Amino acid sequence: MTSAEREPFETWCERRRACVEHFLDQILPAAEAEPLRLHEAMRYAVLGGGKRIRPLLVFASGEAFAAPAEALLPVAAAVELIHAYSLVHDDLPAMDDDALRHGRPTVHVAFDEATALLTGDALQTLAFQLLATPLPGLSPDRQLSLVHGLARAAGSRGMAGGQALDLAATGRKISLEALQALHRCKTGALIRYAVLAGAHCGEPKAEERAALERGAEALGLLFQITDDLLDATADSATLGKTAGKDERYAKATYVTLLGLEGAREAARRTLDETLGALEPLGKRAERLRELARFVANRRH
Ligand code: IPE
Ligand code: IPE
Ligand code: MG
Ligand code: MG
Ligand code: MG
Repeated sequence: MTSAEREPFETWCERRRACVEHFLDQILPAAEAEPLRLHEAMRYAVLGGGKRIRPLLVFASGEAFAAPAEALLPVAAAVELIHAYSLVHDDLPAMDDDALRHGRPTVHVAFDEATALLTGDALQTLAFQLLATPLPGLSPDRQLSLVHGLARAAGSRGMAGGQALDLAATGRKISLEALQALHRCKTGALIRYAVLAGAHCGEPKAEERAALERGAEALGLLFQITDDLLDATADSATLGKTAGKDERYAKATYVTLLGLEGAREAARRTLDETLGALEPLGKRAERLRELARFVANRRH
């Protein structure tokens, strides 16, 4: 165990969040550079909000497997850029039609719809540009598989596909299996990638990687179950986004399908599943376990 791993969880998170924040600020185009409106919107979408859970997962699993620290930061930032793009598009009128994100007007409200579309496009390509720039301490082969993995996680069999399933399920009653498949794609795929990408920058053994995959899969599902629960139980001021929208828009969620108690039970079970899967990794996975508990108990 390194001394960094013995830091209290909160301090550990804060230090890494600050690094990611600074790095994102540096790599995003300057708001004064043309095209001004697009660059301003990109910065608005990425900076000044968000829990940065996915970057923290990259750090937690990377540090567990002795990954070069200089490689983890760009990988963490690339995942966050994809996430930020997904939120900008998720909030569009054609999707969830949301006006509030991170306690401020959503990008299409603060700017306009065309700018929001282009912001998502540009954040996605910036993520790949970043990941395709030679990373310190990583072989080109290893880096290529990181790029490949992110493309899969964000694409039609991952996040974008999950969003399509989400829209198709809106207003319909679907089975729990179908809902689970939807959640695993729309949110799970990127969370899973964050965990595996961090480890991929290090040296996990095959059996460690298998344990990590099981844990990451369960954690991805847990993340969306708690998001569904918060939508139904928290207020907009705490969430920084509009609460209660899932029921109003007849979204397929754990709460709309199983009720509050059923969703809470599913969250407890899925947290246990996550922790159980990480068990064979012992102390190495302590930060990941802390993050899993954080995801389960978060208030926003
Ligand atoms: C919200 O994700 C959208 C989902 C995928 C459920 P987060 O809760 O991680 O969003 P921020 O970035 O912290 O606001
Ligand atoms: C969004 O899920 C998932 C992605 C952006 C990929 P939600 O629609 O539930 O997220 P929130 O509740 O608006 O943050
Ligand atoms: Mg949505
Ligand atoms: Mg939404
Ligand atoms: Mg939600």
